[in-house]
Amino acid sequence: MKIVRVEDYDKMSRTAANIISAQVILKPTSVLGLATGSTPIGVYQQLIKWYEKGDLDFSQVTTINLDEYKGLSPEDAHSYKYYMRDAFHKHINIKPENIHLPNGLAEDPDAECRRYDDVIQNSGGVDTQLLGIGHNGHIGFNEPGSVFHRDTYVTDLTSRTLEANNRFFSKEDVQPVSAYTMGIKAIMQAKRIVVIVSGKSKAAILNTALNGPIDPQVPASILQIHNDVTLIADQDALSYL
Ligand code: PGA
Repeated sequence: MKIVRVEDYDKMSRTAANIISAQVILKPTSVLGLATGSTPIGVYQQLIKWYEKGDLDFSQVTTINLDEYKGLSPEDAHSYKYYMRDAFHKHINIKPENIHLPNGLAEDPDAECRRYDDVIQNSGGVDTQLLGIGHNGHIGFNEPGSVFHRDTYVTDLTSRTLEANNRFFSKEDVQPVSAYTMGIKAIMQAKRIVVIVSGKSKAAILNTALNGPIDPQVPASILQIHNDVTLIADQDALSYL
């Protein structure tokens, strides 16, 4: 694993955006694996700036997101489909048919999981996967558990994740308690993984994920055995290493 230590959140975002932009320039038909949450916002903002300057073209790019809340419509402001549209997709020239997320409203969850695995498979595989790490060590919504799940599945969110994400919901909102997530196999099959981590609150889990045993209780620990991971983290996040 290559570790890039940067000063702060802005440098982290710019460094990760540089890798993604190189990926898109070198391979205009790139498949990007994308993430939601607070951490990637700066990366998307930087990519949008370069797109607006005319330096990037997303017309042949495909994006495949890690996860989606179960039960939320794509129009719901809390859905990841909405987040991605708002934070990234509506600002660039990506084709709508090249944007992929699980459908939170699917009637048959098992069929939806298999459909999503087919989407990943038929895309030819993810070239560069952007990844954050949750405070409990999750990647996507692969929560700590007794096994590493292979394929897309529906998972119950842990109380730690619900707590971490309830900042996005107001009192009147019903916060979903389960989600679709890409499995560990699909994440690990990405040709390159770019992990972004910022802030003191992630320092302990980042240290455990990198230096502890490979253990499904710390899903991010699996990244130790991927052969092309670049971790871009700020000083605060790396302060326990
Ligand atoms: P965050 O989430 O970027 O909002 O901290 C990261 C994650 O849960 O993967």
